[in-house]
Amino acid sequence: MSADENKRRAAAEAVKLVDPEMTLGLGTGSTAAHFIDLLGERVRDGLYVRGIPTSRETAQRALKAGIPLIEPDETTIIDLAVDGTDEADGHLNLIKGGGGALLREKIIASSAKRFVVIADESKRVDTLGAFPLPVEIDTFSWALSVQRLRSALADLGYPNAPVTLRPSDDGVFMSDGGHFIVDCQLGRIANAAALDTALQAIPGIVETGLFVGVVERIIFAGASGIDTITR
Ligand code: A5P
Repeated sequence: MSADENKRRAAAEAVKLVDPEMTLGLGTGSTAAHFIDLLGERVRDGLYVRGIPTSRETAQRALKAGIPLIEPDETTIIDLAVDGTDEADGHLNLIKGGGGALLREKIIASSAKRFVVIADESKRVDTLGAFPLPVEIDTFSWALSVQRLRSALADLGYPNAPVTLRPSDDGVFMSDGGHFIVDCQLGRIANAAALDTALQAIPGIVETGLFVGVVERIIFAGASGIDTITR
């Protein structure tokens, strides 16, 4: 089975967790897109739910699928958020943000009663860090913020780690929130929680792609079937 077929199988498992009347956080990326499409099928069959998208791309897809959307400020309760990931370790820690939606994804994931991650098995790692860690940065004085980021990384045991401003087709990538993203090639992240805390202490850093302590369960799909890790 291809990686894309496995993404869809993981998404299909997550759709089973959806109950009528739920308010759902809708993640971003190709795996989350499968969840949205499959959820849309249930909505067209009569299921009533409301979605909160984590990106413009997801909003467009959800509307096309027929899923009613609300603004995050229209509710105080998100019953379930479902999203993909770039890497996941055995402690349910993640690196996310390959698609550039990490800030909104993290706001919704950490606000939800339940945050469920769906992934093909290639996303499973022993230790986070092979995937470059995305860090979202305010555009004001961004070069100074990156300088401090590099210095913090050196202090934390990552001297000379490549830190690159994410490009786009027509210049510099900008998140839906109007921020830049830098990608940090760290190789191996020994302590994700400590790194997240240290980087978030730098003024100008808006958010990191480290998701620590927010995941309730990860649904992997691969050659041996579905494997679920639950906190
Ligand atoms: C979006 O910013 C990301 O966090 C995605 O959820 C992540 O990159 C996974 O994407 P895929 O499902 O496309 O692999």
